[in-house]
Amino acid sequence: MTEGVSIMKDSQPKTIYLKDYQVPDYLVDATDLHFELEPKATLVKSRLNIRRNPQAGAGLPPLVLDGVELELLSVSLDGVLLSTSDYQVLPEGLSIPVEKPEFLLEIRNRINPEENTSLEGLYLSNGMYCTQCEAEGFRKITFYPDRPDVMSKFTTTIVAPMDHPVLLSNGNEVERGRYEDGRQFVTWEDPFAKPAYLFALVGGDLEHVEDSFTTASGRKVKLQIFTEAKNIGKCDHAMRSLKNAMRWDEETYGKEYDLDIFMIVAVDHFNMGAMENKGLNIFNSACVLASPETATDSAFQRIESIVGHEYFHNWSGNRVTCRDWFQLSLKEGFTVFRDAEFSADLNSRAVKRIEDVSLLRTTQFAEDAGPMAHPIRPDSYIEISNFYTLTIYEKGAEVVRMIHTLLGAEGFRKGSDLYFQQHDGCAVTCEDFVKAMEDANKVELKQFRNWYSQAGTPILDVTDSFNETDGTYSLTIRQSCPSSPGQEEKLPFHLPIRIGLLGADGAELVLNEQGDTETVLQLTEDEQSFEFSGLAEKPLPSLLRGFSAPVKIRYNYSNEQLQFLMRKDKDTFNRWDASQRLALNALCELQVAFRKGEELQVQPSLISAFKEVLEDVDLDLALVAEILQLPSEQFIAEESSSIDAEAIIVAREFVKKVIAGELFDEFRKRYLELNTTKPYSPNALDIAQRRLKNTCLSYICITETEEALDIAQVQFESASNMTDSAAALAVIINHAPEDRAGGLIEQFYERWKTDTQVVELWLGQQSCSPKRGTLENIRALMDHPAFEMKNPNKVRSVIGGFANRNFKQFHKSDGSGFEFVADQVLALDKLNPQISARLVIPITRWKKYSGSLGEKMKVALQRVADSGDLSKDLFEVVSKSLI
Ligand code: BES
Ligand code: ZN
Repeated sequence: MTEGVSIMKDSQPKTIYLKDYQVPDYLVDATDLHFELEPKATLVKSRLNIRRNPQAGAGLPPLVLDGVELELLSVSLDGVLLSTSDYQVLPEGLSIPVEKPEFLLEIRNRINPEENTSLEGLYLSNGMYCTQCEAEGFRKITFYPDRPDVMSKFTTTIVAPMDHPVLLSNGNEVERGRYEDGRQFVTWEDPFAKPAYLFALVGGDLEHVEDSFTTASGRKVKLQIFTEAKNIGKCDHAMRSLKNAMRWDEETYGKEYDLDIFMIVAVDHFNMGAMENKGLNIFNSACVLASPETATDSAFQRIESIVGHEYFHNWSGNRVTCRDWFQLSLKEGFTVFRDAEFSADLNSRAVKRIEDVSLLRTTQFAEDAGPMAHPIRPDSYIEISNFYTLTIYEKGAEVVRMIHTLLGAEGFRKGSDLYFQQHDGCAVTCEDFVKAMEDANKVELKQFRNWYSQAGTPILDVTDSFNETDGTYSLTIRQSCPSSPGQEEKLPFHLPIRIGLLGADGAELVLNEQGDTETVLQLTEDEQSFEFSGLAEKPLPSLLRGFSAPVKIRYNYSNEQLQFLMRKDKDTFNRWDASQRLALNALCELQVAFRKGEELQVQPSLISAFKEVLEDVDLDLALVAEILQLPSEQFIAEESSSIDAEAIIVAREFVKKVIAGELFDEFRKRYLELNTTKPYSPNALDIAQRRLKNTCLSYICITETEEALDIAQVQFESASNMTDSAAALAVIINHAPEDRAGGLIEQFYERWKTDTQVVELWLGQQSCSPKRGTLENIRALMDHPAFEMKNPNKVRSVIGGFANRNFKQFHKSDGSGFEFVADQVLALDKLNPQISARLVIPITRWKKYSGSLGEKMKVALQRVADSGDLSKDLFEVVSKSLI
């Protein structure tokens, strides 16, 4: 029996380096697995056809297998049982001397799914057996070379008692039967060689919905979604999304599905959103189950994009996989780019871009400026689970998007075709991806590769000038990038900057001889100037349209110019961005005024800009809704050189109150116009309408007047869909007095207490409340029967919601929020290290805070570090944050 790693002060966990990569010593041609499912003692038998890797050189080194928390029962080699002295048991594996270049290895071991609270390997969720093997979970199932460049053909037999009638694994079902003892067995065969991280097994008492999809070449694929019986009515949206994704990948990338069956299983206990196991995707229930009555618009959209994402991995991840985990962004960045385009094509492109950029600029930029900053292809890690980050995913997707922008849609498609064709069935690197893009387009992307090796968010400083005599306008762009851990100096990046120029009337000016009114500038130097001639007057630049590169751009716009862009820019993204800049300027001034003890005032021009947008009936509803959102506290914090949490809260609440008060009638009017009753449909137009309506509702309720709260309560009581009832509940929680709110919150729980997804939402809204989210309330929620520390969704709703989305209560000046998070992190680390290492992140950015708040945060973090015996996961994050 090997033990999990425990971190003592004298035994620091090992750092893994990309530069140390070596090809595997042995390959596994076939993997034959046999499971006998039992909650406390599942028996695993594996038969591995192993062969010396011809690329690994001469000689026969010992075979080293990974294995963690396994009870080893027996090992035999070519049919001969080995004695314990024939091999060596390592702290995290097994070393077996080898005498022949090819042999059959048979291993028997036992595992305990019931005790497995890490939700990695084989575990139980509500009595259902399920697996999660990415990144290194397969080693918690059996001894194996658990690395993505060892690809093998898997056959899996599952034996279980009849109370677990559904037994699933990857590929096609090839045999099933019953034993005399009443147990049944099912055998699955996956014809595609795959790394162990894509292995999956499910066993339970499940129901399913079924549909089919006929591929472009005419093959009929069976589609099934499995869930507990009570959720069977919540599978339709995911099924529709799956079929849309299959069609989209055929149309956009020319890629078809390759097995006869595709299965999705919903599980309640899951560390992530979903997992792309070959032919058997496993989903967090929250990311697959939905019905209009129980799921919000954003849940519907999240489900569509995640179903798409995991499906798209079948090519970008499974058919072509990663050589090692440093290449994670090869599959994740590319697949996030693919799912974003899928969502953009099916819904509102502009809204999708605004949402994605908001996420990037708040959370990824913060990560890139913090103690865990890393390039999208990291050079080293201690625990790979910590590197499923916003940088790998979101910045990685931006890097792929930049290639798309540089090559154009057609050039990008040529590149992806070549990439899939050259590397099908292989485990490859980010370098192989870029190379295919270069080769297919006969271009060179040498300098572009800096995006893969350098961390940090580049800053672009833009200045301009106009020569009246010859009508030449010149834009000068300087790039710089702050240092990050281990990287003091940065080389310049190659980045595409999409721009337009606006004339005094807002018209788009012609930029070149081809007559284009929009162009992509290619910045490669530290400083570079771009000239545009033949202009009658100095134009106003619209910079970085569509957010064409993941950078911070600085140009000294006046508030008037920002309002002009808000009204006139033809690029929807930049119209929204101008509104955010305008609000940010006001919020910054207010923070300064607050600190100086001056009277707070909102510029009338900001209010009139809001009024104009609110009353503009020609403007796309979705855009109106987005513009009316003030920048979040997190974004304001990210934009600050030093975070003054109290000033941010005061400034933002003040602006909100003033706008809500000044424009109360306008918000109410727009609310009433939009408050129509029509059957629910999660299409882009209806979603925009509900979003704007509920934005208006939340503004009118900021006034906390009876009139406003009555409107909210009517909506709460009469809503026919969860988007509207959740929006009403949120304003009631945040703005209604206790005597009104308390009963309604309880009423909502009573109505929905048997629905797991709704209860998660209910918990989350309360922990995010600036009013009710006080620590006492959060503690009460943790004692509520609806809470479960072993369920990551519940933890994310309550503790994660508090730390990440309740800016005000989390940053209370006494530091109680930080101490609370530290306590919970320590408790969780014993159950689920992946979750504790994520939950600690909000208290790792102490260096960016001004005043004593940063010091209090550091004290809480130090207490975590000093408590000893941390998991590898938590140790890495905490130790890197205290340097
Ligand atoms: N491969 C990941 C899931 C994963 C990551 C499992 C790390 C275990 C460890 C999957 O493809 C994924 O990226 N899922 C995302 C959702 C997606 C839409 C970005 C997730 O789970 O958050
Ligand atoms: Zn993914």
